[in-house]
Amino acid sequence: EKAGYPHFMLKEIFEQPKALADCLRGRINPKKGTVQLGGVADVMDQIVKANRIVIAACGTSWHSALVGEYLFEYLAKAPVEVEYASEFRYRDPLIGEGDVLLVISQSGETADTLAALREARERGALVLGICNVVGSTISRETDAGVFTHAGPEIGVASTKAFTAQVVVLTMMALELAMRKGTITKEKAKKYIKELDQIPGKVEQILKECDETTREMARLFTYAPNFLYLGRSYNFPVALEGALKLKEISYIHAEGYPAAEMKHGPIALIDEMMPVVVIAATDHTNDKMISNIEEVKARKGRIISIMNKENSDVEELSEFSISIPSTYDCFSPLLTVIPLQLLSYYIAVNRGCNVDQPRNLAKSVTVE
Ligand code: F6R
Repeated sequence: EKAGYPHFMLKEIFEQPKALADCLRGRINPKKGTVQLGGVADVMDQIVKANRIVIAACGTSWHSALVGEYLFEYLAKAPVEVEYASEFRYRDPLIGEGDVLLVISQSGETADTLAALREARERGALVLGICNVVGSTISRETDAGVFTHAGPEIGVASTKAFTAQVVVLTMMALELAMRKGTITKEKAKKYIKELDQIPGKVEQILKECDETTREMARLFTYAPNFLYLGRSYNFPVALEGALKLKEISYIHAEGYPAAEMKHGPIALIDEMMPVVVIAATDHTNDKMISNIEEVKARKGRIISIMNKENSDVEELSEFSISIPSTYDCFSPLLTVIPLQLLSYYIAVNRGCNVDQPRNLAKSVTVE
């Protein structure tokens, strides 16, 4: 059932073009420029009128929630807060009627996420879900929701579920934006057309970067630490890249918003430290270049994920992987792909049990 791949994780990474196409199917119409999410159609008016939207999740799903925050705010001008489900539930949270709690969970069984949902529902909030597993507890207990349709995810490290969650959040943000009139019809149509191209661009990245990520993995297999830096939409991708590496290769890694580096982590940088810079957000590019220079001045080793056009970043990097151009707000769907592969190949080189890393379970049903 691994379809010829040595691990489920690799199979699932390579399945992303299909998973994302399945997630989009029947929900966007690029010709007409429309989005229709059947699962939330009945509550869309409530979402439009919501005082605020809180998104709660754990782990990788929490990272997709962070991307969602940027998308909802940028496209739909909707106030969003992102919470760790575990923190939210134990805090006597300020949530009630007129608010929306959106929970995100691949498995639909994560105990803390489920408890957050129950807490918010009891307080009168509208509770929505984004789940991958149909029939899961969370998907049954929400008022409405959208399935990611990414197909079964077996590898413990979440890959295709993450990108599918981000696709759902993008569609939600676009639908909300159109209803609220925060983007024009023409602009929406352009976004939807581009969203339709994303599975193909993911496919292209998988083809183009497989060899480079292997080569990078060979060089950095025994690095004791990694730092991941991103800005804006790609800050959550920095967190996700670091989490992927930690969980399957057992290398200590941290993700940071690039500007925070000088408030502490810069002290760690020396010639042993690979720094992965996700420099594919155009509007913050100049700032990223100064961050790269700061790392290089301390002999850190730069691996960059960048836009094709960006020769500045390429010149400053020991390794760089370029991704096809897209709207900044869609770039996490592309930039995360090489990071998944990098952590996979490093873990394989280290002889780790990629699909079932030590101490981890696919769904965390204990609190
Ligand atoms: C990371 C990973 C975990 C899960 C987290 C939430 O690769 O798999 O961090 O993302 O346990 O799980 P779900 O999404 O099932 O609620």
